[in-house]
Amino acid sequence: MKLRSLPSALNLKGKKVLIRVDWNVPVVKHEAWSMKHVPPEDTLKIRQSLSTIKMLKRRGAILIVLTHLGRPKRRDQEHSTRHLVDVIKNEFDLHCYFHPESVMRGVEHERLERMLLTSKPGAIHVLENVRFEMGEEDNDQELAQAYASLGDLFINDAFASSHRAHVSVSGIAQYLPAYAGPNLVDEVTALSRLLIKPRRPFVAVIGGLKISTKLPVLKILLGVCDKILIGGAMATTIEAAMKESVGISFIEEEVLAQAKKIGKNKKVSLPIDALVTNKQADPAHAHVVSIHKIPKQEMIVDVGPETLEVWEKILHKANTILWNGPIGMIEIPAFANGSLHLARIIGKRVKGRPFGVVGGGDTDPLVLISHTKKQFDHLSMGGGALLDFIAEKGTLPGLLPLVMSNK
Ligand code: 3PG
Repeated sequence: MKLRSLPSALNLKGKKVLIRVDWNVPVVKHEAWSMKHVPPEDTLKIRQSLSTIKMLKRRGAILIVLTHLGRPKRRDQEHSTRHLVDVIKNEFDLHCYFHPESVMRGVEHERLERMLLTSKPGAIHVLENVRFEMGEEDNDQELAQAYASLGDLFINDAFASSHRAHVSVSGIAQYLPAYAGPNLVDEVTALSRLLIKPRRPFVAVIGGLKISTKLPVLKILLGVCDKILIGGAMATTIEAAMKESVGISFIEEEVLAQAKKIGKNKKVSLPIDALVTNKQADPAHAHVVSIHKIPKQEMIVDVGPETLEVWEKILHKANTILWNGPIGMIEIPAFANGSLHLARIIGKRVKGRPFGVVGGGDTDPLVLISHTKKQFDHLSMGGGALLDFIAEKGTLPGLLPLVMSNK
């Protein structure tokens, strides 16, 4: 899939460029943003996209930045992109103007237009959360036109949102010359290598909470990969489906039959031991047991050392590795050790010739914390988008308007 990228010779001086980024960074930590130092893993998506923003600024564009932040039910302070403008100033020393106006309210739209008329090349204008506009998530054409009327061209640089058929992702592209931003191009180039003739053996490591959300991607991966290592709570659902007793661990009852099918596939490797603890998730109580001996009143919180040993041997032979999803309850630091150890195992292997991709909102921070980022060939900003890219073989709603025709 070849995307229409922004031509380097295109004169952008004074051109109004609507750019969709994904600055959806953890909203619950807003208060932390007033702190002096924000952990780098909490602003990763912003940092990653700033190279494109700065490039457009250098080329003299007037930037109109669109992003969502969280999943707001209504216009509220908590989800306002005003916070992002503060973070970008504090953390990256980059000045952006914040505009609370709605593009659908006549007077406010006119105010935005007037402001853009007098704006200087290189200025960065951040509009309010796109999800505050009714119609954003329904790909409403009137809303798409209202946004489009503000700009001369549209750039999608938000891979992590490109699985959404939303106005700001795919709708606006119908009404303006539309291009893929450099980060989007990089993502698609790297992820396509997983689908088109991957170097073998190709091993996928998939973790996370819910197997139900990952069933479509697991089905595709079972076709494409040579081996799939499954950890996290999703592995527990499979183990429960295979008639293992999993104590009081979280499982998804409604997908047991499908989980069983996956567990029986010869390509799948499941944990053979686990760290378990009591229902209070008390680290002091944690101990390692065989997967066949999970105590009735305890729950699985991480993989055990024998599992990691087996997986290390498999990963050591891999020439392509994809990793998405933690393999333990990482929100409790004591139970993040398995996932951090895994990051180091994969990082070590993909440091050389083997091709390594990692992605996902919970997984990328593990790579940063374990200092293995540089060892990976590609750090995808996509969570759902990464999985959908594989499951849908690249045909995401945000990419389709940007695909170069063969004519
Ligand atoms: C993500 O965090 O995966 C992206 O920002 C998409 O967010 P969404 O799932 O709310 O569309």
